[in-house]
Parts: sequence; structure tokens; C-alpha cells
Amino acid sequence: MICFLCRTKTFLITGGTRGIGQAISLRFARAGATVIANYLRNEKAAEHLKAIATEEGLAIALCRADLTNERGLEQLDRSLQERVPHLSGLVHCAATGIHRPIEELTERHFDWTFNLNVRAFFKLIKLLMGRLSKGSSIVAVSSWGALRASRAIRWSVRPRARLRRWRAISPSNSRRVASASTF
Ligand SMILES: NC(=O)c1ccc[n+]([C@@H]2O[C@H](COP(=O)([O-])OP(=O)(O)OC[C@H]3O[C@@H](n4cnc5c(N)ncnc54)[C@H](OP(=O)(O)O)[C@@H]3O)[C@@H](O)[C@H]2O)c1
Repeated sequence: MICFLCRTKTFLITGGTRGIGQAISLRFARAGATVIANYLRNEKAAEHLKAIATEEGLAIALCRADLTNERGLEQLDRSLQERVPHLSGLVHCAATGIHRPIEELTERHFDWTFNLNVRAFFKLIKLLMGRLSKGSSIVAVSSWGALRASRAIRWSVRPRARLRRWRAISPSNSRRVASASTF
């Protein structure tokens, strides 16, 4: 069903071609919005999403870009410039995590996770500030792991810092910054 409110909106969904991100991309597009679905490596998943979009006549464009480095962010910026003047929202769903005993976790694991889950989110918001329309929303998808300890996983590098980052960004920003937890 086409939602009247979504018809004129454009959303950037990072990690938007598979898993939870793909479901979000499809939900927005099926409601009538235009979606830019970002991904990095998994071409097969991206092609699958494109095939669904073609079959259903959905406005989903793919953008391959690594959000953890400047080159990737510039690539995303150029791609948005070519396709959409304004965005109605960003959903940061791209994330990674490593679950290992503390003895096996290294700073490289920490940097790898932090760069995508937190730093890229911060950089994206800065990059998109001028492009987000009034009343737009910024959502970062997180996990219950950000709030609760798990007996099953003793130590892990996960996107926990996201919650604090949102709170740090939200008060000084007139646009809406929201959090979302997934199960
Ligand atoms: N799955 C769960 O059970 C679960 C539970 C709780 C919370 N969550 C949260 O939900 C969110 C999505 O989880 P998911 O399991 O659906 O994720 P996923 O299937 O692992 O997908 C991760 C996405 O991030 C993209 N990505 C990875 N590195 C990237 C980079 N450097 N630049 C740009 N994109 C990059 C991937 O692109 P490619 O496809 O190209 O690799 C992929 O689209 C995460 O925030 C996660 O913490 C998930």
C-alpha cells in the first residue's frame, strides 16, 4: 500500500541491502518512498534487492561505498548529489561485531567495530547535515546488547557506544535523532 506521507520522501539506509537493513529498505520503498540502499561487499544481496525492486516497481537505488574511510564517504556524497537533492532521513543499519574471549580481542577488532558502528555514524551525520530536510529523522539501529549483559557472551566488541553517541548528538540538533533497538 502506498502511504501518502512517504511518497515524497527519500531515505538513506546504510547496510540496506541485506538482513534487517534490507527489510527496512523494502518497508520504506513499499510505502512509496525513494530509498538509497548502501552496502559494501555483498553484491549478491544487492542484486537480489534490485531484482525485488524491479519486479515490484519500487524506487530503490544501490550505492556501494565503504563508510569507514574518506574515499567511501566521498563516493556516497557524490552518489547522493547525482540522485537526490534532499533526504528525509537516515537509518544507520550497517554494523559489525566480534564475539571472542577478551584474551583474543585486539585493538584492531575494537577499531574495526568502532569505525563502522560509531565513527561512520558520526561522520555520516556531519556529511548529510546540509542535505537533510526540515523535520527529517536520524535513526541508528542498535541491539539489546547495548543495554543488557548476556550470560552467553562474556566479552564482545559491539555497537554499545551508539546509545551514548545519540544522546551526545541529540540536544544540540534541531533535527530529530532517534534510537532504535532490534531484537
Ligand atoms: N541480526 C541480528 O540478530 C541482530 C540483533 C540485534 C541487533 N541487530 C542490529 O541490527 C543491525 C543490522 O544487523 P544485521 O544482522 O541485519 O546486519 P548484517 O546482516 O550483518 O548486515 C550488515 C550490513 O552492513 C554493511 N556493511 C558492513 N561493513 C560496511 C562498511 N564498511 N560500509 C558500509 N556498509 C557496511 C553490510 O554490507 P554487505 O552486505 O555489502 O556486506 C551489510 O549490508 C545492526 O545494527 C545490528 O547490531 C541485529
